[in-house]
Amino acid sequence: MFRISELKPEHYSQIVEVWKDAGLPFKPHGRDSFEEIRRQMERNPDLFIGVFIGEELVGVCIGTEDGRKGWINRIAVKKKWQRHGLASRLIAEMERRLKAKGLKIFCVLVEDWNQPSLALFQKEGYVLHKDIYYLSKRESQDV
Ligand SMILES: CC(C)(COP(=O)(O)OP(=O)(O)OC[C@H]1O[C@@H](n2cnc3c(N)ncnc32)[C@H](O)[C@@H]1OP(=O)(O)O)[C@@H](O)C(=O)NCCC(=O)NCCS
Repeated sequence: MFRISELKPEHYSQIVEVWKDAGLPFKPHGRDSFEEIRRQMERNPDLFIGVFIGEELVGVCIGTEDGRKGWINRIAVKKKWQRHGLASRLIAEMERRLKAKGLKIFCVLVEDWNQPSLALFQKEGYVLHKDIYYLSKRESQDV
């Protein structure tokens, strides 16, 4: 019924559609712009995956890795298809791909209000660290 496959630059508008439908804020003038996503895809083509039902892209997940840890980013599933296990499957597939690169730690940043995402990752075995703060330094709020 569904298939998970790699995403290409030509899927960009469908990716944005998934984020919008799922209500996930994104940075269209920063790291989520078409040019930026294309650049990131060139660097890690196997870490941009989506779940399709027929020809429709209904879920998205972007992996990143810095050689020490693998990160799961921007995971989202269209509202209509939520609670069908699709995000869990995207996580499993992303972990498989990161593991193949030799990584043994998988991480995700989740905002404290995002209960569905917190529940999702904890169900998948991720441990919540209440003693860690996220700090970042950025060129502007758009990036
Ligand atoms: C978070 C999100 C990706 C989950 O996608 P999904 O395909 O519905 O998740 P799954 O069906 O694989 O759910 C797996 C488990 O996660 C937990 N879960 C998922 N959504 C939940 C919700 N709304 N409330 C509570 N638990 C939830 C449940 O334990 C669920 O298992 P169950 O259905 O057997 O109870 C989806 O809600 C979404 O797109 N949210 C908006 C985007 C977002 O916030 N992304 C995360 C950024 S960090």
